[in-house]
Amino acid sequence: MAIEVVRIGQRIVRDDRVTTHVALVSRAFGAQKIFMTEVNPEIKETLNKINETWGGSFTVEFIDKWKTIVKKKKEENYKIIHLSMYGESINEVQEELRNEENLLIVVGAEKVPREIYELADYNVGVGSQPHSEISALAILLDRIQNGMQFEKSFPDAKRKIIPTKKGKNVLVNEPRD
Ligand SMILES: C[S@@+](CC[C@H](N)C(=O)[O-])C[C@H]1O[C@@H](n2cnc3c(N)ncnc32)[C@H](O)[C@@H]1O
Repeated sequence: MAIEVVRIGQRIVRDDRVTTHVALVSRAFGAQKIFMTEVNPEIKETLNKINETWGGSFTVEFIDKWKTIVKKKKEENYKIIHLSMYGESINEVQEELRNEENLLIVVGAEKVPREIYELADYNVGVGSQPHSEISALAILLDRIQNGMQFEKSFPDAKRKIIPTKKGKNVLVNEPRD
């Protein structure tokens, strides 16, 4: 299953920390790519550094118009899931989502254009209370993959954590100088 994410919406104040966390959650919870608009180029560098250290090939792509990517992905037979507190309950649709082939998940920032509700194949609410794109995305990715995202490996990592009850156990795979 290909899973990609796009962050849309206009922010009054640019919130690079939240945007970075949306990208980090996408990567750590099994998505392969994130598309984003109006962001600080440093976010791409941060994610590239994370890939270098912790492995995998998660991609950040800057785009001008969210609608172009949503329409393109629809043509490529991706199903569009828009995360919105007004949407259908995740408990009701999670089973259906698990059976889909390729997914583009749309998360908002501040103000979401109305059009996305129509373009989306699924408008999904993670509860019907306002919270955050970071939490909504993490829960959706977990429900879709049923926890299996944490069994995936991140190839070519310089560091790999060996889960341990206490302390830190990290395998280091880099040449010493
Ligand atoms: C800070 S919220 C902005 C909400 C904004 N007032 C609106 O109505 O579009 C940012 C994003 O978090 C996600 N979000 C927040 N609460 C959610 C919920 N209960 N279920 C699903 N997504 C949620 C949505 O993608 C939303 O666009």
